[in-house]
Amino acid sequence: MIKVSAPGKIHLSGEHSVVYGQPALLTAIDRRCFVSLKKRDDQLIEIKDKKFKKKEKLTFNQIRHFAYLTKKAWQSNDPLALVKIGINEIYSFLEKKPICGFDLAINSQIPFGSGLGSSAALAVGLVTGVLLYEHSSRGLINEIAFQIEKRQHGCPSGGDNTVVTFGGFLRFQKKANRFEFDHLKLPQCKDPVFTLVDSGQPMESTGEMVAVVRQQITNHKSQITKIFKKIGEITNSFIKCFQKADFSQLKYLINENERLLEELGVVGNRAKKLIQLIKENGGAAKICGAGGVKQGSGMILVYHHQLEELIEVLKNKNIKFMKIKLGEEGVRYD
Ligand code: MEV
Repeated sequence: MIKVSAPGKIHLSGEHSVVYGQPALLTAIDRRCFVSLKKRDDQLIEIKDKKFKKKEKLTFNQIRHFAYLTKKAWQSNDPLALVKIGINEIYSFLEKKPICGFDLAINSQIPFGSGLGSSAALAVGLVTGVLLYEHSSRGLINEIAFQIEKRQHGCPSGGDNTVVTFGGFLRFQKKANRFEFDHLKLPQCKDPVFTLVDSGQPMESTGEMVAVVRQQITNHKSQITKIFKKIGEITNSFIKCFQKADFSQLKYLINENERLLEELGVVGNRAKKLIQLIKENGGAAKICGAGGVKQGSGMILVYHHQLEELIEVLKNKNIKFMKIKLGEEGVRYD
């Protein structure tokens, strides 16, 4: 039996603009997607997803056919779509078929579609599980998981799967058709305390929100390019803050990043109201993924230099929050 787990992620800074070559600061968090894989005596592949309460038994050819039919994967309503597409993607990459069938069980602690990298964690966990007996280099895991993310989101930067694979804090930047990343050694990074507040699951997928921004570029190229550049500068300042362990600028940087994301048109009214409340109570907040405008915008990253004070306010207003740890381990064999 192979057991692996991959963490969720947060964009501390730089979502959306990272798709267009600006740097982003990402970190792995302490919510994980667990994947286990057990060889079977027959040729079937049984997929079980605890969160979606779904179970399906298929042949590899059925999986391959499914993946072929759902090329535009983010429009599929099948909760197991990404898993089936992922299995097909892995074996296409390896240019082979599984030697024998296996039972695949998925159990994720990461809220789905909320900007916390649930699909990247599933992709990385799945690839790691299947590759364990084949190859186990993180570089290869990341490369194949990126192909699966492309099937899920269309045109992702590659940042989500990279931080979920390698963990810690990453400065990530897309350069033409490849990406570069540095593992940041941030000894003091545990100091600032963050929490997440849920603004509700977006109705739109990540791919659709990336497309909203792409449309903005078509309509207002120079204005949007300036916004991307400013977000890139914020990411670099954010990294300096962490490296120097000087968090005096953090509140300003987070609020400024959020303001620019609102200008990009990726934040909905429900999230804006929550963020306003947090600011009125001395905190800073921003969405931390693709966002959403029709209803929720996913999880909101909240910073306050005395977080417990803000938490009292959230409790009094019955606003749910989730404390998180940053800089967690990437994918691992459990
Ligand atoms: C999604 O978690 C983050 C985005 O920047 C898209 C991407 O980087 O692929 C919105």
